[in-house]
Amino acid sequence: MSNVQKPVSITQIELKADNRNLTGINELDRVLGGGIVAGSVVLVAGEPGIGKSTLMLQAAEAQSQKEKVLYVSGEESARQIRLRAERLGTLSKNLILYPETNLMAIEKAIDEVKPRLVVIDSIQTLFRDDIAAAPSSVSQVRECAAYLVGIAKATHIPIFIVGHITKEGSIAGPRILEHVVDTVLYFEGERHKQYRLLRATKNRFGSTNEIGIFEMKETGLAEVANPSEIFISERPKEAPGSVVTCSIEGTRPLLVEIQALVTPTKMPYPVRRGTGVDNNRLAIIIAVLERQAGLKLANADIYVNAAGGVKVTEPAIDLPIALAIASCVKNKPFDGKTIALGEIGLAGEIRSVNQVEQRIKEAEKLGFKTVVLPKGSVASAKQRKIDLVGVASLKEAVTSFLQ
Ligand code: TYD
Ligand code: MG
Repeated sequence: MSNVQKPVSITQIELKADNRNLTGINELDRVLGGGIVAGSVVLVAGEPGIGKSTLMLQAAEAQSQKEKVLYVSGEESARQIRLRAERLGTLSKNLILYPETNLMAIEKAIDEVKPRLVVIDSIQTLFRDDIAAAPSSVSQVRECAAYLVGIAKATHIPIFIVGHITKEGSIAGPRILEHVVDTVLYFEGERHKQYRLLRATKNRFGSTNEIGIFEMKETGLAEVANPSEIFISERPKEAPGSVVTCSIEGTRPLLVEIQALVTPTKMPYPVRRGTGVDNNRLAIIIAVLERQAGLKLANADIYVNAAGGVKVTEPAIDLPIALAIASCVKNKPFDGKTIALGEIGLAGEIRSVNQVEQRIKEAEKLGFKTVVLPKGSVASAKQRKIDLVGVASLKEAVTSFLQ
């Protein structure tokens, strides 16, 4: 595996235009940054049962329409995989199954088959017989992954590695591999709900902002074309504590419902907890609500949740978080046909956000009538059918929309 390199001038590095390969699954391709890069190693991490094998089998199946794909499984027999593939639809003769866990045997198979793509399912089952440790131990996982990276770089064949994580996030796996591989994708969602999110937490070949959204169906994972619809579909109508916003995830606008629950505390210190939102940001927003908008929150437990299991961490969701909390405290529902967006400054001012036009368009597309946004952003948004209401301060937003 030691192919010796020489130092070269940066101008002599050739860039091939075609070094990416589309998997055929749009949501996956976008998260990868536009397809699979030759010789790259992608870790696909997630809890057991979330759908990693299903996603990999579908990607392998799609790729094998063109050339051979080697699917190495240490978890299921070839028969089980065939049964699953039949459920998913088509069977391609270019999809080569290999139930093996010995890395040296796998290397040999890669050499013989010369596939366009290799899938390893999962890293926890692999072992190198020159390492005296059990499969899934830290040293086996790390050494096997490093070896696979060596194979990918030497052969230019991309490799997907599946890695299990546990609910606590403690992994003899993905965490210790993150720095070894080129790209880390997390596949997440509630196991008993049908939606799944794919997000990159590291990507040497693209942005880490994109998310891919799938629905787990009887016939495998289906791509979700209109994600905004699903994220706001179950929202309660006319209930206090719920505000819809539009977040930009990578290149896509996504409507998300922000929910807040405020209850009297029974603890010496009140609980403030965000799910899918940043806890530090939440603390600041609560402080500004108290100081600049006159809400009494000192003895209140506050929970904020981005519904649907998404993580939204951009500044534009400050205002909807604040309005959801205020709506709950005042027991006044926020208008169900209105979305809110804006960054909150420490003086209680509402600051401009980027990509306003795109967000407004998305709200309009989904039938909303009004957008509450920073005063400074109104001018940059073109006149549309939807009403744009600019607000300058948090106090103004709370008094105008929650009376
Ligand atoms: P799986 O891909 O085996 O998860 P992982 O490899 O991450 O452990 O998928 C797990 C679940 O998905 C399984 O409990 C059944 C469900 N599933 C479907 O609902 N539809 C399908 O078509 C398939 C293949 C699986
Ligand atoms: Mg699996």
